[in-house]
Amino acid sequence: MESTFVMIKPDGVRRGLIGPIITRFEQKGFTLIAMQFMHLERSLAEQHYGEHKNKPFFNELVEYLTSGPVCAMVWEGRHAVANARSIIGKTNPVEASPGTIRGDYGMDITGNIVHGSDSPESAQHEISLFFHSAMSAPMFMEISDFGH
Ligand code: TYD
Ligand code: MG
Repeated sequence: MESTFVMIKPDGVRRGLIGPIITRFEQKGFTLIAMQFMHLERSLAEQHYGEHKNKPFFNELVEYLTSGPVCAMVWEGRHAVANARSIIGKTNPVEASPGTIRGDYGMDITGNIVHGSDSPESAQHEISLFFHSAMSAPMFMEISDFGH
C-alpha cells in the first residue's frame, strides 16, 4: 500500500468542492487516513512549493495558497501517487481532460483546485510537513479567512 498527500486549495474550498473532491477519491477506491482543515502560514506554503522557489510564478502561488483555508489529506491505496495524479488531471486546467478534477472544476493554472504529490518520496515529505510539523497546528476559521 502507498500513501499520497492531497490538498484541496483555497478556490476548491471557497467554491464548495470539498465534498465532490472527497467523493471522487472514495469512489476511485482510496482510503482516507488523515485530514486537516487549515489556513497555511506563508512559511509552510513556501516549504511545500520549495522546488518552485526560483520560478516566476512562485510568489503568486504562495499568495494564492495562503489566501484562504485548505483541506490537507492523506489518501492510501494501490499506486496511490499515480492514481491520484490520474484523477486530478494535468497541471493546467486548459489541458486537463474532462472527467478529471482539474478538467471538470478549474479554468486557471494558479487556482487549479487541488494538489497531489508527484512521487512516493515527495508524498512522504509533504505528509510529514503537514501532519507532523508544529507549523500545522489545527485552528478554527473566521468567516473572513475565506476571502469571500
Ligand atoms: P507543478 O508542481 O509543476 O504542478 P502540479 O501541481 O501538477 O504538480 O506546479 C505547482 C503549482 O504551481 C501548480 O499546481 C500551479 C502552479 N503553476 C503556475 O501557476 N504556473 C505554471 O506555469 C506552473 C507550471 C505551475
Ligand atoms: Mg507538483
